[in-house]
Amino acid sequence: MTQRTLIIGGATGIGFAVAQLLAGRGGHVILAGRDDNKLSDACQRLQVTGASAETVVLNIADEKQVAILGKTLEPVDHIIVTAGSQAPGGVLTALDLSAARQAFNTKFWGSLAVAHHLSGKIKPGGTLTLTTGFLSRRTVPGTIVKTTINAALESAVKMLAKELSPLRVNAVSPGLTNTEAYAGMTLKDRQKMLTRAAENLPAKAYGRAEDQAKGYLFVIDNPYVTGSVVDIDGGALIN
Ligand SMILES: NC(=O)c1ccc[n+]([C@@H]2O[C@H](COP(=O)([O-])OP(=O)(O)OC[C@H]3O[C@@H](n4cnc5c(N)ncnc54)[C@H](OP(=O)(O)O)[C@@H]3O)[C@@H](O)[C@H]2O)c1
Repeated sequence: MTQRTLIIGGATGIGFAVAQLLAGRGGHVILAGRDDNKLSDACQRLQVTGASAETVVLNIADEKQVAILGKTLEPVDHIIVTAGSQAPGGVLTALDLSAARQAFNTKFWGSLAVAHHLSGKIKPGGTLTLTTGFLSRRTVPGTIVKTTINAALESAVKMLAKELSPLRVNAVSPGLTNTEAYAGMTLKDRQKMLTRAAENLPAKAYGRAEDQAKGYLFVIDNPYVTGSVVDIDGGALIN
């Protein structure tokens, strides 16, 4: 039977790379995000390769939208959340707290809203996979919002893996990965950041979306993996 996967954040970056891998092995993917144009472009890029794909406009920071999708979504085998790559940087005393709250509303509360309203749509044997990030367990001054969102989500994943059992719940925790998340940087600055990462990380490489995508397939496919956080970070956490 064709496996159906809802990928929230699937129009770009890591989510799109997961969609490519799942569609490439015959799965049906449902790409969700806020921007209809971006979703349509991504869906067409998949469909020209013969993939089975559709889109749904969804803002996970708006719980009502998630609840409505919970009433209309046909059952799926897997749900993956990669939404919410943006968070304000800076030390707490200089931080815009409303921007920090907004980032929590999207990535933390949005992921929990998905678990709350949509996990019942996942078929027996299925999975829910969230996305955290290596800063969850690394103390870098100026990254308190990303660190606390991702740390909170990693705790939530372990809790949900018990509460929602036998549904399997996991997270992939990326390190620096070259995606549209950095589209706001100049090409020169972005290249500098990636080169520096490749020089300094034990893996001597920066992350690519396709490297991360393999982690999502690992947790989906391995029936013995739940409550896990899979680090794909080039060794950032041991550096
Ligand atoms: N790239 C890295 O270096 C890195 C490192 C550590 C962790 N991560 C984590 O990996 C995940 C994926 O990041 P990425 O690099 O693939 O970034 P990305 O390309 O910016 O992907 C994020 C996707 O989420 C969607 N999105 C944003 N807000 C949303 C909302 N409220 N509701 C629904 N969809 C929303 C975006 O589309 P719209 O804006 O059109 O909605 C976009 O397609 C994020 O959780 C990020 O924190 C990334």
